[in-house]
Amino acid sequence: MTSLLTIDHVSKDFDTTRALDDVSLEIRPNEFFALLGPSGCGKTTLLRAIAGFEDPDDGRISITDADGQETDLLALPPDKRPVNLMFQSYALFPHMNVRKNIAYGLEREGLSKQEINSRVDEVLETVGLVDKAKARPAQLSGGQRQRVALARAIVKRPRLLLLDEPLSALDRKVRAEMQMELKRLQHEVGITFVVVTHDQEEAMSMADRIAVMHDGRVQQVADPVTLYSRPANVFVADFIGSGTLLPGDVGATGFTALGRTLPGSNPSSVSGPAVLVLRPESVRVDGDDGVLDGTVVETHFYGGSSITAVRVDGVDGPVVSRDRGAPRHEVGQSVHLSWSADDAVILEAGSGADGP
Ligand SMILES: Nc1ncnc2c1ncn2[C@@H]1O[C@H](COP(=O)(O)OP(=O)(O)OP(=O)(O)O)[C@@H](O)[C@H]1O
Ligand SMILES: [Mg+2]
Repeated sequence: MTSLLTIDHVSKDFDTTRALDDVSLEIRPNEFFALLGPSGCGKTTLLRAIAGFEDPDDGRISITDADGQETDLLALPPDKRPVNLMFQSYALFPHMNVRKNIAYGLEREGLSKQEINSRVDEVLETVGLVDKAKARPAQLSGGQRQRVALARAIVKRPRLLLLDEPLSALDRKVRAEMQMELKRLQHEVGITFVVVTHDQEEAMSMADRIAVMHDGRVQQVADPVTLYSRPANVFVADFIGSGTLLPGDVGATGFTALGRTLPGSNPSSVSGPAVLVLRPESVRVDGDDGVLDGTVVETHFYGGSSITAVRVDGVDGPVVSRDRGAPRHEVGQSVHLSWSADDAVILEAGSGADGP
């Protein structure tokens, strides 16, 4: 598939900080793409470079239209780029009603009144704010204000919409609703979205693909399932999802830790110091048989599922197993842990900068 946006070896320094370090990404047409990473990893800087508010020191950024014509974005001023950026802290005009707020950008483009009205009507419908068209921002809930900000960005019909932490101002419940909403909206308007978040669950639930960033570098680009089950390095394994990162070594017999050979898969052929990633869903707890022995220290029942935390001598923190139904073991019970080699990835120790 040809890509819509090509980011090619882009770097950006601020004094002594390398905000972007040789970033290359291909974003596909109509994709919901997420940039995920801890605070300060360069997410906003990358969006600003795409939108034209920051000049990269190195690299190229280009956009390819439907008939294969490639445009060098870096040669265009921000207002000439077919891109719209919704800022991390967006502001609505407090003295204008919802309709005026949404229409503002189109008026500045000098479109006809009729065109503006019909586009604003359409967008009000899309974001579900028809009955709030006359309200001022102060009369809206946080979620509704968020919708206005989105409507304002969408109404300009950019090829690419860049959203910097679009849901961060919302409380948990509204946020979950808006995540679904954003996904539906993206589908409906057919605009490519690049969404920045530092919330991994948010990225996993919304995005088709995710780029995990750390210290200005892209660590891995993949769909959510692959990121979770096949992390490329220890940083990604630690940042995405939960589980135990068990330090050990890869030698002739495979992965060894705690004096035993343990099952694991080694897609990147690591040898020497290594880490085994044990996800809670992959770990089985059994009274009779397993590859590691331990003692149950905690159980929790969540209705449909339960977790069992097991202390294993020599391992920092408990190894957690998640299972359907009620817990089947009691606190204090001696148990055995097992998992299949396919479900536990072996990674190079310390890979991806951070890690154990
Ligand atoms: N204008 C600037 N001048 C100097 N340093 C900057 C500037 N903008 C960003 N930085 C630095 O560049 C790095 C990346 O910043 P950026 O804003 O891209 O991070 P981020 O991933 O968006 O973080 P957050 O999740 O906190 O918003 C940080 O170390 C930051 O301090
Ligand atoms: Mg930011």
